[in-house]
Amino acid sequence: MFLPWHCLLLVLWLVSFIEAKNTNLEEVFHWKQVDFSYPDEETRNKAIESKEFIQENNLPLGLEVWKDKLFVTVPRWKSGVPATLNYVSLKDDDKSPKLVPYPDWKSNALPEDKLEDCDNTENGTHIISVFRVRADACDRLWVMDTGLSDVVGESKEYATPRILIYDLHNDSLIHSYTLKPSDLKEDSFFANIIVDVESDSCDDAYAYVPDLGGYGIVVYSLKDNESWRVKHHYFYLDPKSGNYTVGGVNFHWTDGVFSLALTPPQEDGFKTAYFHALSSTDEFTVSTRILRNKTLATDPHNFEEFKFLGNRGPNSQATASFLDEPSGVVFYTQINKNGVGCWNSKSKEYTPETQHLVTDDDETFVFPNDLKVDRDGNLWVLTDRLPVFIYRELDVKKVNFYIFKGAVKDLIKGTVCEIHEH
Ligand SMILES: *[C@@H]1O[C@H](CO)[C@@H](O)[C@H](O)[C@H]1NC(C)=O
Ligand SMILES: *[C@@H]1O[C@H](CO)[C@@H](O)[C@H](O)[C@H]1NC(C)=O
Ligand SMILES: *[C@@H]1O[C@H](CO)[C@@H](O)[C@H](O)[C@H]1NC(C)=O
Ligand SMILES: *[C@@H]1O[C@H](CO)[C@@H](O)[C@H](O)[C@H]1NC(C)=O
Ligand SMILES: *[C@@H]1O[C@H](CO)[C@@H](O)[C@H](O)[C@H]1NC(C)=O
Repeated sequence: MFLPWHCLLLVLWLVSFIEAKNTNLEEVFHWKQVDFSYPDEETRNKAIESKEFIQENNLPLGLEVWKDKLFVTVPRWKSGVPATLNYVSLKDDDKSPKLVPYPDWKSNALPEDKLEDCDNTENGTHIISVFRVRADACDRLWVMDTGLSDVVGESKEYATPRILIYDLHNDSLIHSYTLKPSDLKEDSFFANIIVDVESDSCDDAYAYVPDLGGYGIVVYSLKDNESWRVKHHYFYLDPKSGNYTVGGVNFHWTDGVFSLALTPPQEDGFKTAYFHALSSTDEFTVSTRILRNKTLATDPHNFEEFKFLGNRGPNSQATASFLDEPSGVVFYTQINKNGVGCWNSKSKEYTPETQHLVTDDDETFVFPNDLKVDRDGNLWVLTDRLPVFIYRELDVKKVNFYIFKGAVKDLIKGTVCEIHEH
C-alpha cells in the first residue's frame, strides 16, 4: 500500500502530541511496590517473617529534595512499615531504587513502648510516622512526626506529635520539640510542615504546622523554643467540597487547613502565606507578621488580618502547595483532576480563569500527594494511589508510585501562570 509522505508526517505529528502529554514533567522514579535497603538478604527475610516488613503496606507520600538526596516519607498508615523517613540518591541509575532509611535504620525502628515526651532513648530518637518534611535554606531537615502508627488498623500512639530537626551536612538530630497539650485537640492530625527562615538568619526560624483534623495552625519558634496554636474560621473545610472520586473510589473527607505557600519577604520584611483547607476550593492569605507573633496570632480581634483571596473552581481541591520565588508561581496538587495546578501570585485575581493545569494524567497522576520546587527551579511531584491503598487494595502488578520532575520555566511558558513584571 502506498502511503503519501505528507500523510506519514501527519501521523508522526499526531503521535508526538499523544506522547507530549507529560513531556514537561520527566518521570524520574517509579515503583510497583517499594523495597528498603536492608544490610543483607537474611535481615530482610527476618523482617518479613516477623511482619516488621509487609511490603504491600508501604505507600510513599511526601517528598523533598536536598542536593542529590530525594527524601521519601512512608507514613505508618498500616503495620509493616520498616522505615518512615527515607531517601534515594538522585545519582542512582535504578528507576526503582530501594529506599534508604534516614538518618539510619535504628532511628526508624519502632520502640517497644510509648516514648516519654522529649525522650531520647539509648538508641537515639525514634521516628514513628512522618507524612511530610521540609529541607530549609540553612540545610536542616524539619520532620513532623505524628507519633502514631498503624492509623487505619489498631492505631497505636508511640509519641506526642513532635518536630525533629536534622543537620543535613552530618545527619545528626540537632533539635526536637514536642508539641504542648495546648497545641493539640482531640482530632488533631499533622500531615505537613512549612518552614519560614532566611539563610542569613538561621536561628530566627518558624515552623507552621497545619492541623487538618483540629482546624488550626501550630506555630513553632525555634529561637524562643515555643509554640502556639492559631485558630480561624478559614481553617475549616467547606462542607460542600468534601466529595472525592479518585482512582474509581468515592469517599468523603473533612480535612481542614492543609498547606501554606510562602512568598519572599515583602516590604515590611514579612512573607505572605497563601493557605487552603483540603476539602475546599477557596484560597486565603495571612501575613507571617501575624503568625509569627504569639500575641497577634492568638488575638481574636485580628480576624480580618486573614483574608479570602478567591476560588479555584469546582473539583480543584488541593493537598500540598509551594511557591516558586523567582517566578512567583504557586503550584498545588489537583487530586480530583489527577494533575498539578498553578497560579501566579503577581496575578491581580484569584479565579478559575487565572489558574492553569500544568499537567494531568489519569494513570500516572491518580493522587498527586506532595510537591516542592528545588533551588535549581525544578518542580518535583510525588504521586500515588492513596485512596485505593486505604479503602481497597493496590494492584501490585501495576506501577503505583511515581516521582516526576520538570523545569518551572517550561511548565508555565505561554500559560496564564507566566507573568513578567516590568
Ligand atoms: C535499642 O536497640 C536494641 C537493638 O535494636 C534493642 O534491643 C533495644 O530494645 C533498644 N532499646 C530501646 C530502649 O528501645
Ligand atoms: C553536626 O552539626 C551540628 C551543627 O549544625 C553540630 O552541633 C553537631 O555537633 C554535629 N554533629 C556531629 C555528630 O558531628
Ligand atoms: C524546649 O522547650 C521544651 C518544653 O516545651 C523543653 O522540654 C526543652 O528542653 C526546650 N529545649 C531547649 C533546647 O531549650
Ligand atoms: C460525589 O461525586 C460523585 C461523582 O464524582 C457523584 O456521583 C455524587 O453525586 C457526588 N455526591 C455528592 C453528595 O455531591
Ligand atoms: C507582637 O505584636 C505586638 C503588637 O503589635 C508588639 O507590641 C510586640 O512587640 C510584637 N512582638 C514581637 C516579638 O514582635
